[in-house]
Amino acid sequence: MNLGGIERLRDRAVEEIRAAVDAAALESARVKYLGRKGSVTLLMPALKDVPPAERPEVGRALNALKIAVQEALEARKAELQTQSRGAGQPFDHTLPGEWRGLGTIHPISRLIERASEIFRAMGFTVADGPDIETVRNNFDALNTPEDHPSRDPSDTFYLENGDLLRCQTSPVQVRYMEAHPPPARIIAPGRCYRRDTPDATHSANFHQIEGLYVDQQVSLADLKGDLTYFARRLFGAGVALRFRPHFFPFTEPSVEVDASCHVCGGRGCRVCKQSGWIEIAGAGMVHPNVFRAVGYDRHEVVGYAFGMGIERMAMILYGVPDIRLLYENDLRYLTQFGAGV
Ligand code: DAH
Repeated sequence: MNLGGIERLRDRAVEEIRAAVDAAALESARVKYLGRKGSVTLLMPALKDVPPAERPEVGRALNALKIAVQEALEARKAELQTQSRGAGQPFDHTLPGEWRGLGTIHPISRLIERASEIFRAMGFTVADGPDIETVRNNFDALNTPEDHPSRDPSDTFYLENGDLLRCQTSPVQVRYMEAHPPPARIIAPGRCYRRDTPDATHSANFHQIEGLYVDQQVSLADLKGDLTYFARRLFGAGVALRFRPHFFPFTEPSVEVDASCHVCGGRGCRVCKQSGWIEIAGAGMVHPNVFRAVGYDRHEVVGYAFGMGIERMAMILYGVPDIRLLYENDLRYLTQFGAGV
C-alpha cells in the first residue's frame, strides 16, 4: 500500500459511483468499496504493516479516501432522487398549476385594524387586558352596584374560582389607570362574553373597542367630536352620529351613540330595523368613583370613556345582515372581504 495506490483507488471508486445509473448500481458500488469486504474497508487493517515513519501520512490518505467515497455516494444518491422525481418527463406547461389558497383577513380583524389605525392617528395607544377577569375589575372598580343585573350568573359567565369572562372591555380602563399615572389616552379592542342567546344581532362571544381619555380638561364635547371624527373616517363623510342620554354605572353623564345606517343611508332597512339608526357605542364622562377605585385624584383629572361594538360596526360597514355570518366560518362568505387590511 502506498500513496499513489490509494489515490488511484479513490479515482476509480469516485468515477464508478458517478456513473451509477440507478439506485441498485449505486448500492453495488457502495458494497464494492465500503462494504464489509469492500476494497476501501480492507485497506484499513493493513495500515499497521506500513513502516512507522510513513504511517501518519498513509493514515491521513486512507481517511481522505474513505470520506471522498462516502461523499461521492451521497451526491450521486441525491442526483438520482431528483431525476426520478422528474421521471425524465419534459415539463408540461399545459397542466393546471397547484393552487395554494391564500388566506383572507377576517372582517372583525380588519375592522379592529382599521379602527386602531384611526385612533392611533388621533393620539391613542392600544392597550390590552385578559379575557378572564376579576369581579373587582369587571364590576366593583367600575362602580357597578351589588344588585346590578349584569352581575347575575344568568348574564355573565363565572368560573369556579369566582373570576369571570369579562362581559365588556371596560376592565382594561381599570388595569390601565392602575398601572399608569394620568394622562391616559388608550383604546383596547378585545373579546367579550355574555350569556346571550344568539340571534341576528346577538352573540355570546363578541368584540368591543374600549376607549379612555383622561386629562385635566376633557369634556363631553371632546367625546362627541372625537367619536364623530372617528365614525367619518371609518364609514365615510356622510355618516351622522346621534347621542342619546343613557345610564352606565361607570360614567356620568352617560350616552348611547347611534350611527346613521350606512346600508340604507338612513331611510330604513332590515339591518337598522327600519329606524335609520344603529347603536354603535355606549359612552360618557368617567364617574368619580372609578377614579377613586384606581387611585386617580378626581379633583385633578376628568375624562371620557366609550365602548364600541365591533360586530355592529362590521354589520354597518360591510352590510352584514346577520351577526352569525361572521362566526360560521363559511369561507364562501368570509373570503369576499378580500385580503389585506
Ligand atoms: N361597557 C359598556 C357595555 O358593554 C359600554 C360602555 C359604556 C363602555 C360607557 C364605556 C362607557 O367605557 O363609558 O355596554
